[in-house]
Amino acid sequence: MKKMIPDFEKMKQVGEKISMLTAYDYPSAQFVEEAGVDIILVGDSLGMVVLGYDSTVPVTMEEILHHTKAVRRGAAQTFVVADMPFMSYATTDLAIMNAGRLIKEGGADAVKLEGGLDIAPIVQILTRAGIPVVGHIGLTPQTANQLGGFKVQGRDLDSAKQLIKDAQALEQAGAFLLTLEAIPRQVAKQISTELTIPTIGIGAGADCDGQVLVYHDILGLFKRFRPKFVKQYAELRSTSVQAIQEYHKEVKDGVFPSEEHTFAMSDEVIQKLYGD
Ligand code: KIV
Repeated sequence: MKKMIPDFEKMKQVGEKISMLTAYDYPSAQFVEEAGVDIILVGDSLGMVVLGYDSTVPVTMEEILHHTKAVRRGAAQTFVVADMPFMSYATTDLAIMNAGRLIKEGGADAVKLEGGLDIAPIVQILTRAGIPVVGHIGLTPQTANQLGGFKVQGRDLDSAKQLIKDAQALEQAGAFLLTLEAIPRQVAKQISTELTIPTIGIGAGADCDGQVLVYHDILGLFKRFRPKFVKQYAELRSTSVQAIQEYHKEVKDGVFPSEEHTFAMSDEVIQKLYGD
């Protein structure tokens, strides 16, 4: 049965961990649903792992919408969160219009926005408009340049205090879930203990209420770089290349297609077709 927001709250209360994984298309959504993962995130990481961009910044609303629709078709029974692309929530009007599209056209159950105190007013407006919001603080890839690159955040006193303030502001603004990316486990633990909403960590240690990773990372499908927090569970890239090489060779050698993969018709029809 599809888990909903009250189920995630309950899971935190009873100490049951929440699993979240990204998916970007129909088959990956089917696999993630079949595996029983609690939440699918249509992350803007799709810009890097699916579309080949250098960062998540170029991802557009149309791209996220396109992929969210496919994920929804593949996973009708899983809670789906869609990422709001960079600049798609730069003003309140933009945020309402674009979040509304992800829910109404994309079929998402909730949207995710990067940022802390600064975006709390937008989170409040969205949640008051009836759009469930997931927050995302710590390493926020859309603004990684302002953070000095893809670095662990909140290691010194001031930035740790700021992260805690950001988390509190997002909870007060109405976010129902909070992603913590690349922060020390002690800060993540403090935030997870202080908040009543569940936290979902990625590179934030084991004390978060749940974990999220990127589909292509856990399956070994993305080779450009691998952050320390990624655990790879399979090596599908080399398996795929091997299978494709075999197909290529069989076509060249005339081994494929064999009779098994070929259609035929009766001799009688052939005779009628070509005569004697
Ligand atoms: O875009 C994404 O996949 C994300 C996760 C890494 C949390 O935001």
